[in-house]
Parts: sequence; C-alpha cells; structure tokens
Amino acid sequence: TLPLFVAVDGPAGSGKSSVSRTVARRLRFAYLDTGAAYRALAWLVLESGIDSRDAAAVITALADFDFEVGTHPDEYYVRIGGSDVTEAIREPRVSAVVSDIARIPEVRQYLVELFRSIAAASDRPGIVVEGRDITTVVAPGAPVRILLTASEEARMARRSAELQDHAAETVGELLKKRDQADSRVVDFMNAADGVTTVDSTEFDFDETVDAVIDVIRATT
Ligand code: C5P
Repeated sequence: TLPLFVAVDGPAGSGKSSVSRTVARRLRFAYLDTGAAYRALAWLVLESGIDSRDAAAVITALADFDFEVGTHPDEYYVRIGGSDVTEAIREPRVSAVVSDIARIPEVRQYLVELFRSIAAASDRPGIVVEGRDITTVVAPGAPVRILLTASEEARMARRSAELQDHAAETVGELLKKRDQADSRVVDFMNAADGVTTVDSTEFDFDETVDAVIDVIRATT
C-alpha cells in the first residue's frame, strides 16, 4: 500500500520546513522538502554560469540534474552529483534566483513527477511533503492537505531570528519579494477547496506541530 500522503503548503517563513520535519519524526513518517529541489537546481544553474532567466538554458541543465534528498527526518541531506549541498542551497545568492527557475513550466513538470515518485517509493507508513503547490498540483487528491500560514509580521520575525547576520528589514524585504514572485506562479496564500488552514501566528513551535498532528489524526 502507498504511504499516507500529508501535503503541506505555505509561504516563506511560515515555519513549514521545521514543523513538517518534526511532525514526520513524531509520526515515524518520511519527510520531503520540495523547496530543496528547486534550490538545488538553482544552485546548479549558478555553478554552471547559466543565466537563471534563460529558460532554454535552465531546461538544458535539467539533463545534468543528479539530485538526491534524504527523506528520513533525522538524516536530512541534499546532494547534487554526489556532493553535499545541504547548506549551500540556503545561501542568499540561491534564494535570489530560485523564483526565476521555479516559474519555468518544464522545470515544474519535471520536479512534480520526481516528487510523486519519491513519495510513492517511501517505505514509511506516511510521508509529509512540504512546498508551495503540494495541496494543489503535486497531490490534489492527498488524504491530508494543510496550508500553514502566519501573519506577515510573525513570518518576518521568525526568519530574521534564523538569519541573524542580516538586518531584519532586508530579510523581510527579500522574503516578501520572493513570495510575491512565487505567488504569481502558484497560489499558496489561500487554501484551495478541502485544504485545512493551520494559522500559527499565535502558536509557538510545539503548538504548531501539535495542531498539524491533530489535523492528520482527525482526517485519518
Ligand atoms: O521552501 P523554500 O523557501 O525553500 O523554497 C524555495 C523556492 O522554491 C520558493 O521560493 C519557490 O520559488 C520554489 N518552490 C516552488 N514550489 C514548491 C516549493 C518551492 O516553486 N513546491
């Protein structure tokens, strides 16, 4: 039987990566960070000296995209061509161009198929798949579909706490810019039909994890 598919979408800074990973750990499910794949491709594009706005060149780079991701929540890693890029894909230079490559339809089609096959191959009883279009495009038929939101202020505050070497304002502006660019491609600010919204504005981390687990338990 296929693993239970838990689809989680949300904007940057909603805490969805760390929340999804912790939920997966607690339920002994697998975890898939789809943003990491977009980031890894953006990293490869930068390393190859390709202009991220040159869609044809980016599509060509897909042929060399030898991507591996750890789906065990305690052994999370991202590799390209066997090299570890887990940290490198979080660099601001990657965040700055990732939206360019994420808007290319061929890139999305390729990665959507990849995510579906990774999820189907999991040997765990379930998998938490987290991103921007999981509830709507990757797995619109998933038994559990959650939109994790938080007020803009809360999201900015959480992200700037993570990235203390940048001025909070700059981080906020960059996040806002990326969300605006991304939401022109997929809508992750509004819950689609049948999607449960978990608003974490007033929750701390553990309360948010509990709220997501409650939704999973209530649906299954
Ligand atoms: O989640 P994270 O911020 O790491 O995602 C990085 C980027 O990947 C997003 O800004 C977006 O451009 C892209 N993305 C996407 N669809 C997803 C996940 C991420 O377009 N499902």
